[in-house]
Amino acid sequence: MPFYHKLGKIPPKRHTQFRKPDGSLYSEQLFGTVGFDGMYSNIYHEYRPTQVKEIKKQYNVAPKIARANNMESLRLKGFDIKPEKDYLNSRKTVLTNSDCSIILAAPQESLRDYFYKNTNADELIFIHKGSGKLRTFLGNLDFKYGDYLLIPRGVIYQIDFDTEDNRLFIVESRRPIYTPKRYRNWFGQLLEHSPYCERDIRKPQELETNDEKGEFLIKVKKGEDIFEMVYASHPFDVVGYDGYNFPYAFSIHDFEPITGRIHQPPPVHQTFESDAFVVCSFVPRLYDYHPLSIPAPYNHSNIDSDEVLYYVDGDFMSRNDIEAGQITLHPAGIPHGPHPGAAERSIGKTETEELAVMVDTFKPLQVTEDGLKLSDGTYYQSWLEK
Ligand SMILES: [Fe+2]
Repeated sequence: MPFYHKLGKIPPKRHTQFRKPDGSLYSEQLFGTVGFDGMYSNIYHEYRPTQVKEIKKQYNVAPKIARANNMESLRLKGFDIKPEKDYLNSRKTVLTNSDCSIILAAPQESLRDYFYKNTNADELIFIHKGSGKLRTFLGNLDFKYGDYLLIPRGVIYQIDFDTEDNRLFIVESRRPIYTPKRYRNWFGQLLEHSPYCERDIRKPQELETNDEKGEFLIKVKKGEDIFEMVYASHPFDVVGYDGYNFPYAFSIHDFEPITGRIHQPPPVHQTFESDAFVVCSFVPRLYDYHPLSIPAPYNHSNIDSDEVLYYVDGDFMSRNDIEAGQITLHPAGIPHGPHPGAAERSIGKTETEELAVMVDTFKPLQVTEDGLKLSDGTYYQSWLEK
């Protein structure tokens, strides 16, 4: 996150002696990104974070690819993903490329039996259904419907859910995810024309410090493998940290829409970016107010981006027969647009209640077997006039 945060106890000067009440040293860790050229935090542990006792297992969790090269517009019924007890098992990759994966999950149980760390991907978790607490070694974040949770690579976490009824839309990104650069000044501060600002971003405020030795299992994801690593001290043993690299939450309901006299293009909805994709939030807003405006979008060509829309709630103005929890994929190279009748239907409407998350990837997405199972098989013909 491009601003400074401090939590817990830290010494007045970095890389100097910082001692426990018994006189021994706390263990300092520089938690850096992009070859120590990117964002970083300095973390102070009760114990050395390097104490690997055993690497028990390594297994591959790469999704099976059903379609390596796809030219079909797809509608995936996301809520057909079956709920599963275990958090990691519940995560089903439906679309993927070498930069990112789009994952749907319906976990029923809190993750408490082990810890999880994704070493080479940031995770952006959108909470469609459910509430609870994301617990990390850098502090905890309460979450509820509509929250984005941004978990930078390397953050060890567990997750508590309040009930069994949870639906998550996850972007796992091999490229770092940032707030859009054009909304920041040269110091990194979010500018006045940004649709959200620092006050809307929730930082960890509660730090769990466990001064505990023993055997602690961390499932570590590296590439498409999980390594089951046993550590000799509790992964949540941090007494304090400061820096720019930490998990945070942002609610889609705090995104302030940008509107205009005529139809505004998708970039006005942009919420996050990486160098491989953008994430946009479509939120309830007033429609265009030019006297001859057409609120529904025009046909458009994603010549060089695949477009993933995840429908969260409300009416989706440009689509017929779209339900919450569904994903549409509009592949690069062919135009798409409003369904027959949608443009006329939109004229005269003054506002929309739609809520959706869009991910536009710059490389094409492959469709996995889990993804293709959700397809209705006919969506690509839905623009035909009868
Ligand atoms: Fe589109």
